[in-house]
Amino acid sequence: EQTAAHFMPEERTLESLQTAAEGCRACDLHRCASRTVFGEGPSTARLVIVGEQPGDQEDLSGKPFVGPAGQLLDQALSQAGLNRQQVYVTNVVKHFKFTTRGKRRLHAKPNSREIFACRPWLEAELAAVQPQAIVCLGVTPAQALLGRDFRLTQNRGRILHTEWSRRTVATWHPAAILRMPDPARSAQMQSQLVDDLVLAASPTDVRH
Ligand code: URA
Ligand code: SF4
Repeated sequence: EQTAAHFMPEERTLESLQTAAEGCRACDLHRCASRTVFGEGPSTARLVIVGEQPGDQEDLSGKPFVGPAGQLLDQALSQAGLNRQQVYVTNVVKHFKFTTRGKRRLHAKPNSREIFACRPWLEAELAAVQPQAIVCLGVTPAQALLGRDFRLTQNRGRILHTEWSRRTVATWHPAAILRMPDPARSAQMQSQLVDDLVLAASPTDVRH
């Protein structure tokens, strides 16, 4: 089974990784998506935020977390006293997966083969940035970095060790907060997202 490792450049700076990922053909998702949506942010970032997969607007713009979930993330970051410009934001899977419903493109969950195929890009990004802290948004990045048995309901908001950071924290995905029908529950999840960002960011110097 082919993985992104096959497309890995020799020089692994964020720029050369991004360029190489534009040509990745390690799974079928590149066939229907418009472009690779690589991570974005400074190589000196102390905090890396990992989402699941680009959505419709990310696919069109080529940038991660620019749609509705991204707006909620930006709001949570600023509530946590963090600046998006100082954070490196990426996804486990770099191409948009969708089903079409009329003219709309609806998000479809990546399967384990696609996650496995794409994972070398995320690992290379983490190796290039060497963050002090990592925040996993939702269960897909949490399982990718913390293992398939990870459960968000049990381990959200805890500091966990991974080989990429001794401060890895999993929290709610902003899209899950947006989908939550109960407004009180949705507000609670949003404040937990902010708390979890604060937890990951302190007491290290990730704000600078
Ligand atoms: N949801 C994600 O997980 N990532 C994005 O980039 C956008 C929405
Ligand atoms: Fe490569 Fe990932 Fe895109 Fe699949 S989703 S083609 S592994 S970049």
